[in-house]
Amino acid sequence: MRLTVKSIYQKKKKREKIVALTAYDSLFADLLDSAGVDVLLVGDSVGMVLLGFDSTVPVTLRDMLHHTKAVARARPNALIVADMPYGSYDTVTRALRSAKRLIQEGGADAVKLEGGQRIERQVKALVRAGIQVMGHLGMTPQTAGALGGYRVQGKHKAEADKILRDAVRLDRLGVFSLVLECVPAVLAGRVTKKVKCPTIGIGAGVKTDGQILVMHDMLGLEGKIHPRFVRAYAKLSSEVRRAVRCYRKDVLAGKFPSKTESF
Ligand code: KIV
Repeated sequence: MRLTVKSIYQKKKKREKIVALTAYDSLFADLLDSAGVDVLLVGDSVGMVLLGFDSTVPVTLRDMLHHTKAVARARPNALIVADMPYGSYDTVTRALRSAKRLIQEGGADAVKLEGGQRIERQVKALVRAGIQVMGHLGMTPQTAGALGGYRVQGKHKAEADKILRDAVRLDRLGVFSLVLECVPAVLAGRVTKKVKCPTIGIGAGVKTDGQILVMHDMLGLEGKIHPRFVRAYAKLSSEVRRAVRCYRKDVLAGKFPSKTESF
């Protein structure tokens, strides 16, 4: 059965953890879905993981549409959330236009935006238009420069208070869930208790209502950054290298293809 925004929201009441991972294509969306993932996030991390960018900033709405469509083609039971890329929601009008495209053309069930008070008007307009919104607070990669780089947010009281205030604000505006990225576990626990919507943590400790990781990190497909909060459940990079070396050796030695592999 397809998961809905409502069923994700209700998981908090039932004290059921939410399992989320990023997905950027049909093949992996299908694999993750069949393994029971609740939320597939078409993250703008695709820029760094697959497209060779150094940050998520160069990722365009066009890129996001391309990858969201691919994930949607897998017709997963999981909820599909598409990231709104940098510059696609800096005004209310643009936010509405971009979100509608991700849903109508891309096939997403919901969209995710980074920020708190700064994007209050956009979130309000999206919710009023019937668009399901996931919030994102703490370390927000699109504005990492302004936050002093990829570092833990909310270690100091003023910063922590702001994250808590922003979380309450987004919750009241009607976001259906909230990603907390790279914040101290204690702060994530406080936010989780304070808001009605489920929180989904990444580098935010175990007290959040769910967890998300970048799928490629979780599978041990090496990236440029190796965050401490990642647990690699496989070592696919070494496995890929091993397989390719074997293939190369066989091709060089004339051992591939064999008779049975030829016509
Ligand atoms: O783009 C992304 O992958 C994300 C997750 C890290 C939450 O925003």
